Amino acid sequence: MRLQDRVAVVTGGGSGIGLASVRRLASEGAKVVVADIDADAGKATADEVGGLFVRTDVTDREQVEALFQTAVDTYGSLDVAFNNAGISPPEDESILNTEPDVWQRVQTVNLNSVYLCCKAAIPHMQRQGKGSIINTASFVAVMGAATSQISYSASKGAVLSMTRELGVQFAREGIRVNALCPGPVNTPLLKELFAADAERAQRRLVHVPMGRFAEPEEIAAAVAFLASDDSSFMTASSFLVDGGITGAYVTPL
Ligand SMILES: NC(=O)c1ccc[n+]([C@@H]2O[C@H](COP(=O)([O-])OP(=O)(O)OC[C@H]3O[C@@H](n4cnc5c(N)ncnc54)[C@H](O)[C@@H]3O)[C@@H](O)[C@H]2O)c1
Repeated sequence: MRLQDRVAVVTGGGSGIGLASVRRLASEGAKVVVADIDADAGKATADEVGGLFVRTDVTDREQVEALFQTAVDTYGSLDVAFNNAGISPPEDESILNTEPDVWQRVQTVNLNSVYLCCKAAIPHMQRQGKGSIINTASFVAVMGAATSQISYSASKGAVLSMTRELGVQFAREGIRVNALCPGPVNTPLLKELFAADAERAQRRLVHVPMGRFAEPEEIAAAVAFLASDDSSFMTASSFLVDGGITGAYVTPL
């Protein structure tokens, strides 16, 4: 119960890592505000944990400001902002084939949204003199892939440097800002993609020392750690939860 009576906002809380994190944060005592563009999924998640759903398009400044204001108005504080919503569309691939509209859409959802969420959340946390912000980046922000998703990788790299800067700037105001860098996670999208193409799956799995992808619950455990006071001396960090991928040269057979 590390998060007893803390108030947490989770964007993209209707699915995957966000959904697992909502469950985990709630199980540790947090009051959770679920934000998602998908109203059915988001509401179902919020109902499951007795939390609040606020339909939000995280690319829209007014909606993002209303989201954090609603959290504070409803529950009285804002202790955790897990800025997690993101997309990874198949049209975002090699730079040679990725057109400007696709490039921009991915930047808008993955990067501008994190900027908007941090911009809206920080003043609430400044008033309280405390808070933990967790921005979802990815292991691809620190490694190159020949199977490129060029805008996605660039957006996550930018999330890392923005997070680092915010962590430094607000450190003495009690606000911690960390980037979470998951390795590949066993989400429905990934399962579908790899069920259809075993070679594609194997090409990636061979680089993972653990020989498997993460379960969303394993990423959610890291989110709960970064949200809680157990990580009280961590800020401006790029927290890798990647099964050893970024540390590996030759992996076990
Ligand atoms: N799955 C992986 O392997 C993996 C690895 C590293 C990082 N990530 C990152 O983790 C985060 C979550 O990924 P996931 O795999 O759980 O994805 P997911 O597709 O399962 O869930 C993403 C959620 O975000 C919501 N969303 C999308 N656009 C939105 C918008 N404009 N406004 C509000 N909500 C929106 C979706 O409706 C969905 O519920 C993303 O930032 C992703 O880039 C995922």
